[in-house]
Amino acid sequence: MKRLLITGAAGNLGKLARARLGHMAEVIRLSDIADMDPAGENEEVIPCNLGDEAAVHDLVKGCDGILHLGGVSVERPWDMIQRGNITGVYNLYEAARAHGMPRIFFATSNHTIGYYRQDEMIDTRDPMKPDGLYGVSKCFGEAMASMYHSKFGQETALIRIGSCFEKPRDRRMLATWLSPDDFISLVECVFRVPMLGCPVIWGVSDNDEGWWDRSSAKLIGWRARDNSEAYRAEIEAAAPCPPPDAPQSVYQGGMFTEEPIHKT
Ligand SMILES: NC(=O)c1ccc[n+]([C@@H]2O[C@H](COP(=O)([O-])OP(=O)(O)OC[C@H]3O[C@@H](n4cnc5c(N)ncnc54)[C@H](O)[C@@H]3O)[C@@H](O)[C@H]2O)c1
Repeated sequence: MKRLLITGAAGNLGKLARARLGHMAEVIRLSDIADMDPAGENEEVIPCNLGDEAAVHDLVKGCDGILHLGGVSVERPWDMIQRGNITGVYNLYEAARAHGMPRIFFATSNHTIGYYRQDEMIDTRDPMKPDGLYGVSKCFGEAMASMYHSKFGQETALIRIGSCFEKPRDRRMLATWLSPDDFISLVECVFRVPMLGCPVIWGVSDNDEGWWDRSSAKLIGWRARDNSEAYRAEIEAAAPCPPPDAPQSVYQGGMFTEEPIHKT
């Protein structure tokens, strides 16, 4: 690619992508509403609020790929979610339509299906069951991507990320963990595959434990390599097992199912 845009570049995954994906394009355009480190070699830094339509059009212009990580990533009051994840997603897709339809990696979430129980095995065709306003906003993003694909041919990889951290942090993450290395190889795969379409793919490592049928990853030829099992003994020694009726034991979305509707 000539220019890859990374939104949410100041966030956890944005920093990881910035550190490890410089080889993906001649220029990496980094954007966030929060402060970012100054531009390095082959980088451009462009602050932008995704809720600002004109600014998003300027941001997307000239890019041939978008790694869309920006937006609210946890449960927050509706106005924040609306700006980043609803209006922001509309602005992004309209800007993409106006500027050559660059391929999009859309970071969606397991919280689109958080109210499925941990004793259920699901695949990407099962109905959504979001576990909060954040999850609802990601369902909206998936629907938006699907509509722009059907109507205009816009390509998007809808990556339902589990839990992307250096290592799993609790028992639930033994099932939901996506290793940093697997995240990076997944992004590379999305931008390299000749035909993408608009598939929904679980962003999860090759964990022994899990609730998601990962076969749709084959559509883009991606294979996760890491396995949370390597950390099981460490996790189980660190904390007592939560009670079997606790939300983190019952629901795939874990503690997000316990979140209230935040007003402030
Ligand atoms: N990290 C995970 O395990 C995980 C799991 C599921 C989904 N995701 C999704 O992946 C993406 C990246 O996750 P993360 O962990 O890096 O989140 P993060 O919160 O660390 O980063 C998100 C970034 O988006 C920026 N942002 C928020 N609102 C914005 C707005 N209106 N305009 C511009 N920028 C805005 C924030 O400043 C932040 O830097 C998010 O979309 C998140 O929902 C992540």
